[in-house]
Amino acid sequence: MGSGIAHVAAAAGLSVVVVDVGSGPLEKSRATIDRNLEREVAKGKRTTEEKRAALGRLDFSSERSKLARSDIVIEAVIEDEALKSQAFAELDSLLPPASILASNTSSISITRLAAATKRPDRCIGMHFMNPVPVMGLVEIIRGIATSDATAQAVEALAKRFGKTPISCNDYPGFVSNRVLMPMINEAIETLREGVAAREAIDGIMKLGMNHPMGPLELADFIGLDTCLAILRVLHEGFGDPKYRPSPLLVRMVDAGWLGRKSGKGFYEYAGK
Ligand code: CAA
Repeated sequence: MGSGIAHVAAAAGLSVVVVDVGSGPLEKSRATIDRNLEREVAKGKRTTEEKRAALGRLDFSSERSKLARSDIVIEAVIEDEALKSQAFAELDSLLPPASILASNTSSISITRLAAATKRPDRCIGMHFMNPVPVMGLVEIIRGIATSDATAQAVEALAKRFGKTPISCNDYPGFVSNRVLMPMINEAIETLREGVAAREAIDGIMKLGMNHPMGPLELADFIGLDTCLAILRVLHEGFGDPKYRPSPLLVRMVDAGWLGRKSGKGFYEYAGK
């Protein structure tokens, strides 16, 4: 997700610093952005010169201090509240007072992340969809203290990225995952109960509802660990058993079957 966000920001003409924990993830990020910009060149959406210019605006670093002059930081660490809060607290002490701290979280409370900083009015959710260069939406999540000026600034930024911002308030799962994850969870329960095979469940939802991917294929695409983390946020946040993660999903994550990224989820992915 971080690579996709850096891709659209650099392509929109912004200078971007990509920070990750070491040279391995940074190299992978650079290669992913290069490959996806090349896809756009091949489709005639971008010229080779525009690709070169976008790559030239990207600076990859494992030093968080490189972010110290940023107008906005979009945090995209894994879906773990403790890690995200820690990142917010550290960035708060590093950034100029006027800078905005955005999170790409898919379900964690923006209000709680903002409470780890001294700038809750300048904290906000910017939830991009995967694959970021392709999907049109940025879900903008206003925490309880987010100011109008911050919301307007990130909406303008999302538009500059060529995306459509749509705003909502800060409740577990926001809108996107409050609606999407129960569907995915129910598809997993449908599989667990033997109602139909994986291909049948996905085929019915693809052909019948005009979804580009079936729910099981989509779960593999998102990452089963991420789906489980989001369902747990919904389950704990609302205290409602309707959000209980499917025991099959829990078992698969326990086994390390995380979907596409691990080579196995509801489907098998060769070459991983
Ligand atoms: N990165 C960049 N571009 C990509 C890409 C990637 N990983 N994968 C595909 N593309 C581009 C292709 O270049 C192609 O571009 P054009 O339309 O300009 O030709 C386009 O996407 C379609 O690709 P393909 O024809 O190769 O493949 P497809 O038709 O099967 O589409 C897909 C692939 C866009 C991923 C489509 O299957 C899809 O829309 N799936 C659903 C995605 C979705 O629901 N995303 C949201 C997930 S939820 C989330 O992200 C948030 C959360 O909190 C969990």
